Amino acid sequence: MYKETLLFAIQAGAAQLQHFFNGHYKISNKEGINNLVTEADHASEKAIIEVIQQRFPDHFILSEETGEIKSTSEFKWIIDPIDGTVNFANNIPICCVSIGLEKDGQMILGAVYNPFMNELFFAQRGQGAFLNNKRISVSTKSEVVKSCLVTGFPYTYLDSPNGPLEVFQKLVKQGIPVRRLGSAAIDLCWVAGGRFDGFYEHKLQAWDSAAGFLMVEEAGGKITDFAGNPYSPYQPHILATNGKIHDELLAYVKGDK
Ligand code: IPD
Ligand code: CA
Ligand code: CA
Repeated sequence: MYKETLLFAIQAGAAQLQHFFNGHYKISNKEGINNLVTEADHASEKAIIEVIQQRFPDHFILSEETGEIKSTSEFKWIIDPIDGTVNFANNIPICCVSIGLEKDGQMILGAVYNPFMNELFFAQRGQGAFLNNKRISVSTKSEVVKSCLVTGFPYTYLDSPNGPLEVFQKLVKQGIPVRRLGSAAIDLCWVAGGRFDGFYEHKLQAWDSAAGFLMVEEAGGKITDFAGNPYSPYQPHILATNGKIHDELLAYVKGDK
């Protein structure tokens, strides 16, 4: 029932992305230059919340544009109506809808759907991770220097010591490919599916990673904060890898390497 609702909700959100993509719609600025929100973000969010509330009117909801719809339920839906809004607003088809479902503080279900590539990622705690119903798993590379990595950059704190630019520079100077797709949820799913060996980012919000981090775990990967502690989506730092390169990439991110 929860899985069905999740998949129904994600389709409803994605239908709005498809409706507005490449068309004319309102774009506004949130705090910070180029931190955008579009009419499509709002339409997607509305469609998703409607689906969830029709079935589970008393569940807690945390959604990027609306914020919290509080309740005492043990279930909490964590929604990013468009992850990769800057891409979306530039007609770049690397963007998605991301929804995670937490029960008693533990992520139990996650889905990330990029309708422009027809890629639906789905994970269920203890049951594995899937791309379009086919089981996926992380890569097997064991050295950072031979890895293909991905990261993202926040709108602020770029220059802080051992911050996003410094870590990026250290890796790139060694000739290591570090991509920047512009959607943290897709970055995580692509680690889960073995396209990337590792992903790190310095400042994410819960809705960016809620579904994607479960995807990585269920695909056999490892995910921590920058101290190497078990990951929580309610703090900013994220390091997600195939497991094999985790400690080495952690050393780069911490500034030990
Ligand atoms: C952003 C994307 C991006 C990441 C930013 C996020 P949004 O989410 O996930 O990859 O670098 O930190 O804010 O704004 O497109 O939902
Ligand atoms: Ca996001
Ligand atoms: Ca968003």
